[in-house]
Amino acid sequence: MDAHRRQELIRNCKPPTVWRGEPHLGGWYGEEEIEVVVKTIRQSMDWTGDGFGFICAEIEGFEKAFANYSGTPDAVSINAAGSGLDMAVMCLDLQPGDEVIAPSVNFRAAPMSIIGQGGRFVPGEIDPRTFQLDPADVAKKISPRTRAILPTHMNGMSAPIDDYLEIARKHPHPKYGPAKVIGDAARACGGGYKGRKIGASEWLTVFSFHTMKNMTTLGEGGMITCHDPDIAKRLRALRQFGGTDCWGSNYKMTKVQAAVGMVQLRKLDSMVDSRLRLALRRNELLADVPELTTPYIPADVKHTFYLYTMLVPKAWAGKKRDALCAIMGEKYHVGCVVANPPVHSTVPFIRQHVGAIDLPVSEEIGQRLFCATIHPCMTDEQNEYLCAALIEAVAEVRKL
Ligand SMILES: Cc1ncc(COP(=O)(O)O)c(C=O)c1O
Repeated sequence: MDAHRRQELIRNCKPPTVWRGEPHLGGWYGEEEIEVVVKTIRQSMDWTGDGFGFICAEIEGFEKAFANYSGTPDAVSINAAGSGLDMAVMCLDLQPGDEVIAPSVNFRAAPMSIIGQGGRFVPGEIDPRTFQLDPADVAKKISPRTRAILPTHMNGMSAPIDDYLEIARKHPHPKYGPAKVIGDAARACGGGYKGRKIGASEWLTVFSFHTMKNMTTLGEGGMITCHDPDIAKRLRALRQFGGTDCWGSNYKMTKVQAAVGMVQLRKLDSMVDSRLRLALRRNELLADVPELTTPYIPADVKHTFYLYTMLVPKAWAGKKRDALCAIMGEKYHVGCVVANPPVHSTVPFIRQHVGAIDLPVSEEIGQRLFCATIHPCMTDEQNEYLCAALIEAVAEVRKL
């Protein structure tokens, strides 16, 4: 993109207000969602009928459709991915001293679920090219106490699940066998791995339908895909106050959410494809900026681009990265987020849990990564504007 085109875009396309770095609505809604909400409310108004409750045809239908979409035998709907991760870790029945390996460059939900269930969170390094939990580091950290590997499908792209499964197989736990692989796919709904959907090969995979995510169910919601009928039964008991012989609480989504989820699921591929198209165009437009490492996409994944994650050079780590994000927001109205700094050193509660540990790759990448806003409703011109602004902002940081 030449300087003339950049100036033209900056003159004509600057948004009146700042675009959020991580938009608060991840997909898009239309008349179909509104109609299904109204229809579901109308159907629930008769007090002699089923009301809104609680496990109903809408929920069962949405679960079947989601399992079918994911290529898994079953899917259990829930009220959020955070509680879904708690439920998944509960199904491990962790004993004192049991360990779960998860990436440190991560949202804090997965580490919290491990600690919350009495496990030891073992923070893993990431592969700096893909931002996914590094299998080589997992191979170093797996121990006779490891019960599970809990990768996050970071920023919308599948983690290399087969690599973790292989490591788990090679180092079985003396009592429980190979560590289970649980995927945190909160940010990766619609993503693919080796020609299948995310979730197809993990023991359990947790998806989020929170308002910011790739598909949404009125603000909150989630799904756990699963292969084992006994675990599916347990998850359903957990979300509905347990059974006669197990603990449970209330982790259900609502009938109206499920009805909306059905509509959103039909749109999911097209919403993800829009993200992917914008991201690939960005990769082209930014290819000649030496200071920006644009996202790398391995051949065997379908990236959903929940976030468009870039790296600045080592010399720009920290201060200059932050200056770049500040210029993007203040001067060009394009929000950028750092998703995510390593939790082992930046979340005090987690730091206390893990103690003093050394994760040099995570620390360095945490100072170099940033994500510029992306959304399926962004026009091609808005996307070009963002790239023009980024090229200009990089030039400004060069002078600092
Ligand atoms: C990676 C990751 N895991 C888990 C969660 C929690 O999802 P929820 O908001 O549905 O509880 C989020 C949400 O921000 C997330 O980004």
